[in-house]
Amino acid sequence: METVDVQGASIPAIGFGTWTLKGEQAASLVQHALETGYRHIDTAALYDNEEAVGAGIRSSSVARDDIFLTTKVWHTDLARGELQSAVRASLDRLGVESVDLLLVHWPSKIIPLAETMEALNDVAASGYTRYIGVSNFTVPLLSEAVKLSQRPLICNQIEYHPMLNQDKVLKACSDHGMAAVSYCPLFRGGDLFTDSRVTSLAGKYNKSPAQIVLRWHLQQPNVIAIPRSTKPNRISENLDVFDFSLADEEMRSIDQLRSNGIRMCDFEFAPVWDG
Ligand SMILES: NC(=O)c1ccc[n+]([C@@H]2O[C@H](COP(=O)([O-])OP(=O)(O)OC[C@H]3O[C@@H](n4cnc5c(N)ncnc54)[C@H](OP(=O)(O)O)[C@@H]3O)[C@@H](O)[C@H]2O)c1
Repeated sequence: METVDVQGASIPAIGFGTWTLKGEQAASLVQHALETGYRHIDTAALYDNEEAVGAGIRSSSVARDDIFLTTKVWHTDLARGELQSAVRASLDRLGVESVDLLLVHWPSKIIPLAETMEALNDVAASGYTRYIGVSNFTVPLLSEAVKLSQRPLICNQIEYHPMLNQDKVLKACSDHGMAAVSYCPLFRGGDLFTDSRVTSLAGKYNKSPAQIVLRWHLQQPNVIAIPRSTKPNRISENLDVFDFSLADEEMRSIDQLRSNGIRMCDFEFAPVWDG
């Protein structure tokens, strides 16, 4: 498995996303993902599946130390003391002593960022997580967070796929030495998989449209993708993207789709996005 190496962390370039997966299905898919070669699992307190993710990890034949496990704290739990309690509850549900990466799931418009960064550094100092980072942070929020954090922030997890231009925040991640973790990397399927640019490359390389899109992510500097699937064969397929490369002009042809400017995860609590 290729890794993205930032700030002393080595993060597997493809992770398994678990949003919407629940209960026994989540546990068995996590187990399958690990046994098929994934070493990076993405969950969150909000997903209400941390117990199942932990069960899947324990049922697998892969040692906990070989897995890069990420969870996230919800934006209502970012105050001093509350963040620490939320993380302890996540660790209890997961059944692990620590995670590899703890993310602020969304920035808060109410709780001061200084307080959140202090608490985030505190949980890292307590050994609850190896690394810390953020998610859904814009360029100005990222600069502020970096200034306020004693420890390095190793990534910003953001919505990124060929239907959305994220050049500004990607540049900010790069300037801060952070990885960009693409969520919704497949645009949840949809129109992307029938686009002629994607399907013609799929034909050329004898790969699926999903594999072409994942390869497009991986060929960008310090970009990681965390696709989700409920189908074991697709989970395996989404990892089988390390044996071919897209040419520069093929990368650029997929880039052109970004002018669609479609953002799927936008909520009333979202920050004002980078223009
Ligand atoms: N930080 C955040 O705020 C945030 C927000 C959203 C998501 N995330 C994380 O990012 C992960 C991925 O995002 P996502 O789950 O929203 O979307 P996604 O991974 O872009 O797309 C998932 C969809 O694509 C389909 N799919 C997966 N592999 C496929 C393949 N090889 N061929 C055809 N279809 C395929 C799946 O259907 P089937 O199940 O039928 O295969 C599913 O409907 C989440 O699970 C979560 O861990 C984070």
